[in-house]
Formats: sequence, C-alpha cells, structure tokens
Amino acid sequence: MMQGNNHPKGKLILRTLAMPADTNPDGDIFGGWIMAQMDIAGGIMAREKTCSRIVTVAVESITFIKPVHVGDVVCCYGEVVKIGTTSITINLEVWVKPSLNRPSREELKFQVTKAAFTYVAVDHSGRKQVIQRDCVC
Ligand SMILES: CC(C)(COP(=O)(O)OP(=O)(O)OC[C@H]1O[C@@H](n2cnc3c(N)ncnc32)[C@H](O)[C@@H]1OP(=O)(O)O)[C@@H](O)C(=O)NCCC(=O)NCCS
Repeated sequence: MMQGNNHPKGKLILRTLAMPADTNPDGDIFGGWIMAQMDIAGGIMAREKTCSRIVTVAVESITFIKPVHVGDVVCCYGEVVKIGTTSITINLEVWVKPSLNRPSREELKFQVTKAAFTYVAVDHSGRKQVIQRDCVC
C-alpha cells in the first residue's frame, strides 16, 4: 500500500466535510466526490496564479491511498509544479482529520489521495491563451 508523508505538501486551499450524501452503498466516500473537491481546489489555485478563466485539461497519477468516511474533515493542499505557455500543473494532496466517530483515531491527520491536475488558461470564447506570469488579481 502506498503511504503518504507525515506533512502535507503545499498550501491549504479548501476544507470541507464528508457528508452521507457523498457515500457509496458501503458507506465509504465516492472517489469521484474527492476528485471534484480536488478539481475545485486546483481550479482556485490556477485562477489565482494565472488571473484567467481556466479549464481542466488533464488529471494524472491519481492515487487513492486510504478511504474517506462520513464526518472526516477533508483538506486539499496544492503546489504549482509547472507553468507552461498556456497551462499550469498543480500537485494536489488530500488529507483528512478523521471523524470523532471513527473507531480508531491514532493519527490526527493523514493523506488519502494525491494527483497532478493540469489547467489551461482560456479566453471568454474558450480558446487557450498565454499565461501572464506574475499577475496580481
Ligand atoms: C483545454 C483546451 C482549451 C486546449 O486546447 P488545445 O488547442 O487543444 O490546446 P493544446 O493541445 O495546444 O494544449 C494546451 C496546453 O495544455 C497542455 N496539455 C494538453 N493536453 C495535456 C495533457 N493531456 N496533459 C498535460 N498537459 C496537456 C499542453 O501541453 C499545452 O500546454 P502549454 O501551452 O503550457 O505548453 C481544449 O482541449 C478544451 O477546451 N478542452 C476541454 C476542457 C474542459 O471542458 N474541461 C472541463 C472538463 S469537462
């Protein structure tokens, strides 16, 4: 089994709570819900870094390390790893603070998922556009 490090890499972008509506029939949180949270978090960071409308173009190396349970606090951390001409790639890590209802809570916080999300800066017609580096918005 792949194991995360002891500390999240990058900046905390998003925190939310895993709710019963986000589970599969076995009571674990859907991977797709976690991916959506990561896409939102990466999108926030990509917008801040590019000062542009952005679209997700690719998701690479997504790894679900541990399950997420209802009541866990889900925290998405992001780190820009590449800025190209029109694209920006962000490594995202998801960590959880386990629910108080979990039977064993040895770890106060642990990594559950990681992936690299790539976004492309686009204009209002959806055409790619060059990223303005060092923009402030
Ligand atoms: C994103 C989009 C505008 C790119 O248009 P395009 O003219 O085909 O662009 P290109 O193939 O030249 O790629 C643009 C950039 O994305 C990068 N890119 C494209 N495919 C990639 C992939 N699979 N992985 C990583 N980077 C990728 C390219 O390397 C390029 O980066 P650079 O300019 O920094 O060098 C277009 O593909 C699109 O609109 N896709 C749908 C996006 C969307 O709707 N996302 C939401 C999910 S439903």
